[in-house]
Order: sequence, then structure tokens, then C-alpha cells
Amino acid sequence: MVPIYVIGLGFYMVPILLARGRVSGTAYEPFTGRLLYHLLGTRPDAASLQLAPGLPAANRGTLNLLVRPMAWVSRVTGFVPKAFLYPPLRPTSEGAMVGARCEFLDKALRDHVAAGDQVVILGAGWDTRAYGLLAGRDAALFEVDALATQAVKRAAIEKTGLDALHVTFVTCDFNRQSWLDALETHGFDPQRCTFVLWEGVTMYLEEQAIQSTLRAVATLPPGSRIAFDFFTREWIDGVAGRMGQWALVATYGESLAFGFSVLPDFEGRLGAYMAEQGLVLENCRPMGDEREGRVPYGGLAVAVTPEA
Ligand SMILES: C[S@@+](CC[C@H](N)C(=O)[O-])C[C@H]1O[C@@H](n2cnc3c(N)ncnc32)[C@H](O)[C@@H]1O
Repeated sequence: MVPIYVIGLGFYMVPILLARGRVSGTAYEPFTGRLLYHLLGTRPDAASLQLAPGLPAANRGTLNLLVRPMAWVSRVTGFVPKAFLYPPLRPTSEGAMVGARCEFLDKALRDHVAAGDQVVILGAGWDTRAYGLLAGRDAALFEVDALATQAVKRAAIEKTGLDALHVTFVTCDFNRQSWLDALETHGFDPQRCTFVLWEGVTMYLEEQAIQSTLRAVATLPPGSRIAFDFFTREWIDGVAGRMGQWALVATYGESLAFGFSVLPDFEGRLGAYMAEQGLVLENCRPMGDEREGRVPYGGLAVAVTPEA
């Protein structure tokens, strides 16, 4: 299959390189992961399959020469590479990060989004939860992203006929603008309980954007939550992180900016950081080496707005 995969990889990479620095390329990685889980039958996400042909790098060449053949080989042989396993194994390898965060964040959404709530997906990329897992939950849904990336998604939605009438699209540059201000001009109600999904975004932001996002959630009604994944500062500064950084810049022209410091006490450090921004850390887990005192490459967390 390798020659077929190589041609398929060309169909995938060329549109990403052509839009490098303008439209998010990293958004394709979690999208492709979730699409593969769907094709392997382990995490249903029909909307991702519908949306794919509308996205430049998930075009029919990529689908038919790379993604579908990979899923087909796994189905026929019964061999599923660890990176494609859903739910993934623990401890979570770097290759299985997409699955781990997907599992953790899906559960947080299922556990905490109630009818009448608002859900804000920050840095939505090609996320399709608004058209699957969250559709029909009677929650107001907002997708926030950088202008050019969101324009590509909206064009793909139009082209593929995905039903997005129940979703409000808002553009924002998190490093320069307040997403809360941007949302409030689009019908968002700051008095309503809100769940903020922040998947695959923290690592690309400046620290002031991290803090202002957490502080914004702390101004929302008690019981509002933010769920997110992150890289650790210790990992980003180490050899593996520097190599990852190099690969990310070379491939997508995007670079790692922020990581949470987690040594020597993962939960304690993260909890203290959340408390400084006015939130309570409700749930967290490391990704990578989970042994005490070791450096996990990242983590997953849910923080909640406390009663005043
Ligand atoms: C790796 S993708 C994750 C997409 C999606 N959350 C997912 O998990 O499939 C990162 C997303 O964050 C957005 N993003 C990164 N930096 C941003 C910024 N400064 N302002 C607005 N959006 C940003 C990108 O446009 C992209 O959609």
C-alpha cells in the first residue's frame, strides 16, 4: 500500500503548504484522527465524513488514496496501529494524543452540557461536534476561530451541504482580541451557564491569551466550565519538544508558544494556576509519562467557575 499512501500524502500536503501561514494546517491532524475512528467504527462522527471533501487537504485524493485505504487495511488485517486505537491505550503516547483528548473532552461535554446551556468551541478548526455529538442537545452553539480558517470551514459546510443553521460562527484572533466581546456581539448571553471547549489550541497562544481566556470563563455564571488539552512547559523546553517544534514549523508553519509548568506536582501546579485566574480545577490527567516526578508531555483538564 505504501506507493498509494505516498500519492495520497501528496494530495494531503499540497493544499496545506499552499495555505501555510494563512489557514490552520494543524487543524487537519485531529480532524483526520477523528475521521479514521469513524471509518474504523470506534467513534461515530458521520459529519466529519460529510465535511471532508469540502476541506482543501481532505479532498477526494486524500480520502481515497490515504485515509480510506488505511482504515480498510486495518479492518481487513485486524491490525490497528496504536495511534489509530480509540479509545487509546494508557499511558498515552504522543502518537495517540488526538484519541486521548477526544475521549476526555467528549466525556466532559457529555457530563456537563445541559439543555439551555451555551457551548463555545474556541479554535474550532474542523471540529464536527456541533454537527454530531452536540446537535439536538438544545444548547446554543458557537464556533470561534481565526478569520481565514473559519472562512475555509464555512465554504466546506456550504459545499458539502452540512446542516449548520444551529451554529453561530464568530471570528477572533485570541492573541489580540477578546473572544467574549466578539461573542457578545453575536447573541451570546454572559448570564447563561456556558461550556467552553478549547481543544488543540493552548499550545499556539501567548500566555496573556491563556490567562485572559481563563479569566473570561471565571466571569461566567457558576458551573460554567472550560475543558482543554495542553503541552507541558518542561516538555516543550526539552529535546523532544524542540524536535516537535521543528517538525511543526517545517510542516505547517505553526509553532508552539505556551506550555503549563507541572513539576513537581502535576495537579497542584495546574490547580494553583487555575485558582490564580479565578477557576477551580475539577478534573485533570497527564498525557505521556504519568509517574510522579517525571515529565509528561502534556495533559487534559476541566476547570469550573466557582460560586461567588
Ligand atoms: C490544532 S487546531 C485545533 C482545531 C480543533 N479545535 C480540533 O481539535 O480539531 C488549532 C486551531 O486553533 C486556531 N487558532 C490558533 N491560534 C489562534 C489565534 N491566535 N486566534 C484564533 N484562532 C487560533 C486555529 O485556527 C485552529 O483552528
